[in-house]
This record gives sequence, C-alpha cells and structure tokens, in this order.
Amino acid sequence: MSGADRPRLVVLLSGRGSNLAALCRAVESGKLPARIAAAVADQPDAAGLARAREAGIDAVLVDRDRHRDRASFESSLAVAIDGFEPRYILLAGFMRVLGERFVERYRGRLLNIHPSLLPRHRGLYTHRRALDAGDAEHGASVHFVTPALDAGPVISQARFDVRPGDTPDALADRLLPLEHVLYPATVALLLRRRVELRDDTVLIDKQALERPLVLGADLGPDGRVLGHGDGG
Ligand code: GRF
Repeated sequence: MSGADRPRLVVLLSGRGSNLAALCRAVESGKLPARIAAAVADQPDAAGLARAREAGIDAVLVDRDRHRDRASFESSLAVAIDGFEPRYILLAGFMRVLGERFVERYRGRLLNIHPSLLPRHRGLYTHRRALDAGDAEHGASVHFVTPALDAGPVISQARFDVRPGDTPDALADRLLPLEHVLYPATVALLLRRRVELRDDTVLIDKQALERPLVLGADLGPDGRVLGHGDGG
C-alpha cells in the first residue's frame, strides 16, 4: 500500500503533541499502516502544531476564541476534519469537551487517550488523584468517545505499579512512554477492522470485549492481539 492509499488519520490536540509525534514515528517505522493527514489544534500556541509542520503534516488551527460559541466552533472543526476524509479522528491532549452532536457525527471513529485506568479518574489531575486514592496501579486508556466525558467504552490500557514515594510527576514520567506505544498499537488494531463500537460496547471479532486489552499482555506494540494465534 503506498502512502497515499493508506487510511487517513486526523489528530486533534491542544498542547505539546508528544502523542502526535509518537503516532508519526509509528507510521514511519511501519508499525502503523496509516497516513496522518493533519493535526488540528484549537489554540494558536499549541506546540503540537509546530511538531506537525516539522513532520511534514498539515497543521490546521481552528481557534476556539474566534468562534462565538461551541456550536460554531464545532461546526468549523468538523469542516476542517472532513476535508481530510479520515477513517479515525484521534484526540491526543485535546482540552475541549465536545458536544453531543459532534461526538455522534463521528461515532465509532473518534478515539481518545486518557491518563488513567478508566473508569477510575475521569477528567483532570489523574496522577494526583490516583495517589490520593492509594491506587496500587496506574496507567492510560484508549477509548471510543461518547458524549459523557471520558466515559466511552475502553478498548485498551497500559498499566504499571505505583511505587512507594511516587509523585504525580513520577507517574506522569513513567506513563507517557507507555502512552506512546499504546495509542499507535490500538489504532493499528482498529485499522485491521477487528474492533468496532456497537451501541455502547466494544466488539472484537464481533464478540463483546469483556475487559480492555492490556498492552504487553493482550496487545503487542504493532497492534496484534497476543495469545490468540493472531496472524493477521
Ligand atoms: C496525555 O497525557 C494524554 O493522555 C492526555 O493529554 C496528554 C497529551 O500529551 N489526554 P501530548 O500533548 O500528546 O504530549
């Protein structure tokens, strides 16, 4: 498959864009058989826009502050996204809550990576909250986006043990490199058409996924499902 024929992805971000960079690396190394068509940011100072340009990817700004309300912002966002005809739209540090109409428009094609083991710790400050709760494990989740914040069905997780003396920064430092493997692996799995969203359930090979696939145990870094004779 030549680069132009590959399924296209659009990444939405608000900040530094390290997950975007990881997705780009996965494409370059052949782990992710896709083309990242564009990065779209909601604010002009998102460092991820510069990262996209450096990687030769279209960098598009849909400035929230230049729209009178959420509905007009989201309709501009949809126009920007649809121009690239993506198969999947990947939220990677996109700091806006998206409305129901927008989310339903892309149902089953809109994914997010969240820095906690969902359903634990939806929303912000997940590392601090995991420590405050005394969690033995922490991690990240990739999920389908549905209208309720961080509540969509979870496809995959990267998990690790919390250690005595851990701080929020220490957890963040250990988690980010795992996110950078988890997101491309999950997207690679989806691109092989084995996983889909049906109603509010993740299906894998047409069967309900009973628990999220765990990176390293169930899901390889190239998106193969481990331990099930997954040759394709
Ligand atoms: C990541 O921790 C991701 O889980 C969360 O936002 C952060 C984005 O980081 N949703 P980056 O902009 O990809 O570096």
